[in-house]
Amino acid sequence: MAIKHYLQFADFTLDEYAYLIERATLIKRKFKNYEPYHPLLDRTLVMVFEKNSTRTRLSFEAGMHQLGGAAIYLNTRDSQLGRGEPVEDAAQVMSRMCDIIMIRTFGQEIIERFAANSRVPVVNGLTNEHHPCQVFADVFTYIEHRGSIAGKTVAWVGDANNMLYSWLQAAEVFGFHMHVSTPMGYDINPALVSRDNLRYTVFADPAAACAGAHLVTTDVWTSMGYEQENAARLKAFDGWIVDAAKMQRAQPDALFMHCLPAHRGEEVSAEVIDGPQSVVWEEAENRLHVQKALLEYLVLGKL
Ligand code: CP
Ligand code: NVA
Repeated sequence: MAIKHYLQFADFTLDEYAYLIERATLIKRKFKNYEPYHPLLDRTLVMVFEKNSTRTRLSFEAGMHQLGGAAIYLNTRDSQLGRGEPVEDAAQVMSRMCDIIMIRTFGQEIIERFAANSRVPVVNGLTNEHHPCQVFADVFTYIEHRGSIAGKTVAWVGDANNMLYSWLQAAEVFGFHMHVSTPMGYDINPALVSRDNLRYTVFADPAAACAGAHLVTTDVWTSMGYEQENAARLKAFDGWIVDAAKMQRAQPDALFMHCLPAHRGEEVSAEVIDGPQSVVWEEAENRLHVQKALLEYLVLGKL
């Protein structure tokens, strides 16, 4: 049987997401009730980090322990990956010693080469191009608060980054529409969007993008790996802050999400991220619950 990996949001069908949402809901309930649930007893997750992380590391590591397994953390600084061991060799070795691997790295091709040489499922914990686990948690959070996301409008205000490309795939899978506004020079790379994706509209004006939206979301102006562009980005993104005036253009009950970490006063104002429409803490917590469902599914299949 072919191994299933989760390298992009589009790697799962709507049916698979429906199953995962059901499992995540059940697993979350067990967690809240302090009910032990150990389907991954004696299984091992290896986590490879080539970039910093708080939420991703914590949610995968805690999640794997809660499912009865163990998690091992490796980073570029003190593993042989940082000294040029080929990704293909690392994949061969690591995948002989564990049941599932999560990687946070730079280019998407790195995780694809790793997965092609792995004996066990590989999960994308963020690349330059995609952040599927986060967007899965975001969609789950939307559904928890408001029900089905199909037919709804999600406004993206900010950089065309890994989060946006995963959102654009989610729009196709779940059947919602996106309003996207990025500053000039930081627009969508068409090579990273499927050619027949009709699920988004581009707006030059970020406030116009928020009009009528059921969910407004943004992310940092400078993603990890692009730090040398920070000064230029600060100038170019002036005006792309999600503030109260932009939230006013959205539906009255619109939600605000941000994958975090956030910069108040840059991509979002304090009154929005700390205000009543923001669900950022639930969104962060849901990383734990959806990823536990993901680990269970990739290691054990449908139960
Ligand atoms: N949102 C997210 O992936 O956070 P970390 O970078 O802290 O893992
Ligand atoms: N777009 C951000 C997300 C961080 C979780 C980055 O890649 O740095």
